[in-house]
Formats: sequence, structure tokens, C-alpha cells
Amino acid sequence: MRSQFSYLLLAVLGLKNGVINTGNSTGRFADINGIHTQEKVEAIIASSISSLRKQFGAKKIGAVGYCFGGKYVARFLAPGGGLDAGFTAHPSGVTTDEWAAVGGPLSIAFGTLDGSNTPAQRAAAEAIFTTKNLTFQTTLYSNAEHGFAVRTDLSIPQKKFAQESAYFQAVRWFDAWIK
Ligand SMILES: *[C@@H]1O[C@H](CO)[C@@H](O)[C@H](O)[C@H]1NC(C)=O
Ligand SMILES: *[C@@H]1O[C@H](CO)[C@@H](O)[C@H](O)[C@H]1NC(C)=O
Repeated sequence: MRSQFSYLLLAVLGLKNGVINTGNSTGRFADINGIHTQEKVEAIIASSISSLRKQFGAKKIGAVGYCFGGKYVARFLAPGGGLDAGFTAHPSGVTTDEWAAVGGPLSIAFGTLDGSNTPAQRAAAEAIFTTKNLTFQTTLYSNAEHGFAVRTDLSIPQKKFAQESAYFQAVRWFDAWIK
């Protein structure tokens, strides 16, 4: 399936000026969370949204966030945050308060093997969205680990399916909600 619409795409690198420790994952995450504080990341996103509207004349803005980025999709989908729709795959560190504050259409791709989104956490998010009557979609892919929508073992059929489907899920979502 192809998107029937073309979108202006702005890739926002939340990890600006980041010198990421590539030695080991403990060091890498310490750097991501230490250098890339919520405040700094939010400043980058807010200026990106602002320039999309002012310089590029964007009327509607959808955001895609993987892992770390998922939290910011949720935060900026709160009323007044500047986004019109969002998609996230295997989000990390999103609190129930952040899910509860979401006001715009939100689609999420979860994987069964992702320890960052346990069954209880997924159920809690879905219950919040349902109670709020949010326009939302959650999809759960089997044999899909944290990060699957970005990088996975494409030689394994379930993982390949999960990655491709998460992409189509995002495209369909934006075709439905920000065209
Ligand atoms: C991982 O990186 C951190 C930060 O640089 C370092 O303190 C730690 O010793 C490293 N751990 C291993 C097992 O190499
Ligand atoms: C939920 O949202 C839909 C679509 O916006 C609306 O038609 C419906 O009335 C809402 N339901 C409740 C219980 O508010």
C-alpha cells in the first residue's frame, strides 16, 4: 500500500550535540539521559514545530517517535503541544500521566518481547485512552523486541512483518488524521 499523500518530512534529531558513548549500552543510556534532558529535547521539538508552521506553512503536523522519541510524541500531543496526530513504536519511559494528557489521535506499535512496554503497561495505556474516548490504535506484534520498527533481524519472518507493518500503520494513521 502506498500513501496517497506526500508529506513534508522534518527529521528532528533529539540527540543534538550528543556525544554518545558507544562503548556499552549502560554508558550509552547514561549519556542519552544525562546529556539529552527532557528540557533540551523539548526545546528542539518546540522549535521544529514552530518552524514547520512558520517557515514551511504546515497546517497539520504529525510526529513519529521510536523508543526515546515516543515519550515526546505523547507529550506534544497534549492540548497546546503543537501536534495534530502521532505514531510511536516501542515507546520508552512514557508515564501514565503523559498518556492521560494526550489529546490528539495516537497510534502505537508494541512488540511482545519489549520489556519497556509490559502487558500491564500496555493495558493501562489502552484503558486510559478508552476512558478518554481518544482516537487511538494500538497494535501488538509477536516476536518483536524493543526497537523492532527501526532495526531488527529481517531474516526472521515475524520480525520482518512487524517492522513493515509498523511503517504501514504509521502511514495509514497520518493519511487518516492529518491529511
Ligand atoms: C560502560 O560504560 C560506562 C560509562 O562510560 C563505564 O563507566 C563502565 O565501566 C562501562 N562498563 C563496562 C562493562 O565496560
Ligand atoms: C467518542 O468520540 C466519538 C468521536 O469523536 C463521538 O462520536 C462519541 O460521541 C464519543 N463518545 C462519548 C461517550 O463521548
